[in-house]
Amino acid sequence: MDLNIVCIPGDGIGPEIVTEAKKVLDAVAKAYGHNMNYKDILMGGASIDVHGIPLTDEAIADAKAADAVLMGSIGGNTSTSPWYKLPPEKRPEAGLLKIRKALNLFANLRPAVLYDELASACPLKEEISAKGFDMLIMRELTGGLYFGERKTEEVNGKLTAVDTLTYSEDEIRRIAIKGFDVAMKRRKKVTSVDKANVLDSSRLWRKIVEEVAKDYPEVTLEHMLVDNCAMQLVKDPAQFDVILTENMFGDILSDEASMVTGSIGMLSSASLNDTKFGLYEPSHGSAPDIAGKNIANPIATVLSAAMMLRYTFDLDKEADAIEAAVKKVLTDGYRTVDIMPQTEEEKKNMKQVGCSEMGDLLVSYIQ
Ligand code: IPM
Ligand code: MG
Repeated sequence: MDLNIVCIPGDGIGPEIVTEAKKVLDAVAKAYGHNMNYKDILMGGASIDVHGIPLTDEAIADAKAADAVLMGSIGGNTSTSPWYKLPPEKRPEAGLLKIRKALNLFANLRPAVLYDELASACPLKEEISAKGFDMLIMRELTGGLYFGERKTEEVNGKLTAVDTLTYSEDEIRRIAIKGFDVAMKRRKKVTSVDKANVLDSSRLWRKIVEEVAKDYPEVTLEHMLVDNCAMQLVKDPAQFDVILTENMFGDILSDEASMVTGSIGMLSSASLNDTKFGLYEPSHGSAPDIAGKNIANPIATVLSAAMMLRYTFDLDKEADAIEAAVKKVLTDGYRTVDIMPQTEEEKKNMKQVGCSEMGDLLVSYIQ
């Protein structure tokens, strides 16, 4: 099979981790007889430095023409990087928002899994982490506060800022369908998260989610208020399977869920539209402080590439092979610095490796 993939190395550790993910994809292609065609595009700070804007129309056209996009990370240090002296619409993050909207990537899947081998990294009490957890946050990605009208103006002599939160029933329905579809392939439970005790947009959310649920009699639906969900994530994360929520709540809860795993360097994500097309990226950021040191953890990007094989190309066996290789490096005791255990006792059985060595190990397990 021919796979046409646009890569966005981006900023910070982005280029290093994308390089390793490509190595792993190439190994899969070789082992299973596929043909990977890559094309790099610039986004974020890397694009600002060359074109003065975080994403060009040509780059969007390249992405649209591909089957899928594999991204590293974008952005820099917000207090020291000159990119953040630019007006908001010219900063690195604006490129990410622009590509999400341009490609209609309304469904953002963010798994948060506690790996057995990394359970000691979980910051929760042992009685909670011992139960393990494996959840997926289905975040709406092209609506709500992120894309509503906004302005700052003087009202009665006082600067006043407005952001608007709008959702149409169609926008809610299509993301709810994605949430229930994914739940059918997992443990068949959806927790829809909203703030229906205050917000109209949440009350409509609840109504439409309940309508969609009728088509999925096997899936258990529960509603949860977002503030309670934030508490439940640290109190009893094992209760969650699919968390279905709007853009802003999903942004916040997915960071919380990833922190609770204690190993954000392991978490992948996918942003999908109504077709097989998707943009795949690690859940973590660009970590500018460790960029270029060959110490970043490439596993989140590698696992995002596995999601790409699974969701865009329906190559389940190939995706399984990558996930199995990741499991095996962990059980064999290889760790990048971010997932090294803290105690000397535990460290004894581990081998610390850099970003490119981790990529090489994964490749060797796939061959
Ligand atoms: C994320 C990020 C982005 C978001 C930023 C960089 C605009 O935090 O992907 O979660 O808020 O969506
Ligand atoms: Mg975020």
